Amino acid sequence: MSGKFITFEGIDGAGKSSHVEWLSQWLRDHGKTVVVTREPGGTALGERLRELLLNEPMHLETETLLMFAARREHLAQVIEPALARGEWVICDRFSDATYAYQGGGRGLDRAKFATLEHWVHAHLQPDLTLLFDLPLDIARERIVLANRVLDRFEQERVDFHDRVRQAYLDRAQHHGNRMRVIDANQPLEDIRKVLENIVSSIGL
Ligand code: TMP
Repeated sequence: MSGKFITFEGIDGAGKSSHVEWLSQWLRDHGKTVVVTREPGGTALGERLRELLLNEPMHLETETLLMFAARREHLAQVIEPALARGEWVICDRFSDATYAYQGGGRGLDRAKFATLEHWVHAHLQPDLTLLFDLPLDIARERIVLANRVLDRFEQERVDFHDRVRQAYLDRAQHHGNRMRVIDANQPLEDIRKVLENIVSSIGL
């Protein structure tokens, strides 16, 4: 059996990270070898780029290029080798985040996004993308409750996050085969049931 590439997406505060952990364990319980990783990050270089991306003000195109530079390294060092070994890769964010944040949120030209996506991973898309969606005010409340220092993206205004959310939903409409929208504003148990059903449907 070959492995699968599953990505998790959503606005800040959608709660995807705890679902990443839970789904990874669920897959391990079903006998899978699972690599859990994240973007930006996932490699030593990528984690250094993450520090810069989350904290250092920069031009939009610099930000976009660094996201894709980190991704190129991540694909070469972690994602592609794991898939080649037949393992499952669970990645907390991937290119849909660039589409939503740099494209939707910051207004990057879509053609430039498409060029970089094609350059960096023309022949690889996730087998499944789980998009955790919820109203902005609830997402904000969760971030405030977490009571930690906010990064450059979390500090953005509500209208930025609203554009990110709309861009994600728009992308999901156009990639219906791979992207599934999950209502993140439901009890944990219900979300886990939905995840089990969706992941079982792509073949365990
Ligand atoms: P995280 O909070 O999910 O770890 O992600 C870090 C931040 O990076 C998050 O606010 C979204 C942002 N981001 C982008 O703007 N573009 C990207 O391509 C990726 C992967 C993340």
